[in-house]
Amino acid sequence: MAADAQETTSSGGPKHVAIIMDGNGRWAQSRGRPRLFGHQAGAQRVRDIVNACPDLGVKYLTIFAFSTENWKRTQAEVSGLMALFRLYIVREARALHAEGVRVRFIGDRIRLDEKLVTMMDELELLTAGNDRVHLTIALNYGGRDEVTRAAKRLAYEIEQGRLSHKDVDAETLSRFLDTHVLPDPDLVIRTSGEARISNFLLWQSAYAEYEFVDTLWPDFTPEEFARVCASYAERDRRFGAVKA
Ligand code: FPP
Repeated sequence: MAADAQETTSSGGPKHVAIIMDGNGRWAQSRGRPRLFGHQAGAQRVRDIVNACPDLGVKYLTIFAFSTENWKRTQAEVSGLMALFRLYIVREARALHAEGVRVRFIGDRIRLDEKLVTMMDELELLTAGNDRVHLTIALNYGGRDEVTRAAKRLAYEIEQGRLSHKDVDAETLSRFLDTHVLPDPDLVIRTSGEARISNFLLWQSAYAEYEFVDTLWPDFTPEEFARVCASYAERDRRFGAVKA
């Protein structure tokens, strides 16, 4: 989407919010519990935040569930997270559909378990007609990986003679990204006090506003989400231009 197409709700809130859900491990460890306990609590929190979106005018919510770098975690944590994603789909599919949520997944599916990929496909299909909230879950996602895969597909189209190198511009490349049907995020939130982007939506967030909050993800309430969205409305987005 064009960088100058400012997306706000009627109250000036963000239309597309992307969230780096960080701090599950620390949340669990501070309670003397295993890291997976924190991820389970984090998954519960996803439901509350999705449910809060319609009232806040947030039409698109994109969440970072598993990065291309997260495979470096212990085998136990990785397989625990994969099991949690499967459980989330089983448990939440019906409620998400009933709430009019359209679910999409972004990221490279090649390294994911076949059963999980089938479940992701089925959830996308089940919710394909919904339009109340668009929930995008980034799974085995990395911004550099996404741009690299897009460039590879673009190069293939050129090799096949369906495109010319002269057609290559930002708009053409965007069409090959996993997010090609989504508007760019207006606001990116990261929880847990870390001020890093960690390879999330690198291309799409070129003009996004950022909010880094200290709260650990399992403690991030809909009330805090509403406050962060309200503070976005106070910001002055210029997209590189000067104010008239
Ligand atoms: C980062 O916290 C979080 C993750 C790598 C996983 C995110 C997953 C969830 C919130 C739960 C499942 C999501 C869905 C969609 C079902 P961290 O573990 O790096 O926290 P730390 O920095 O405190 O160790």
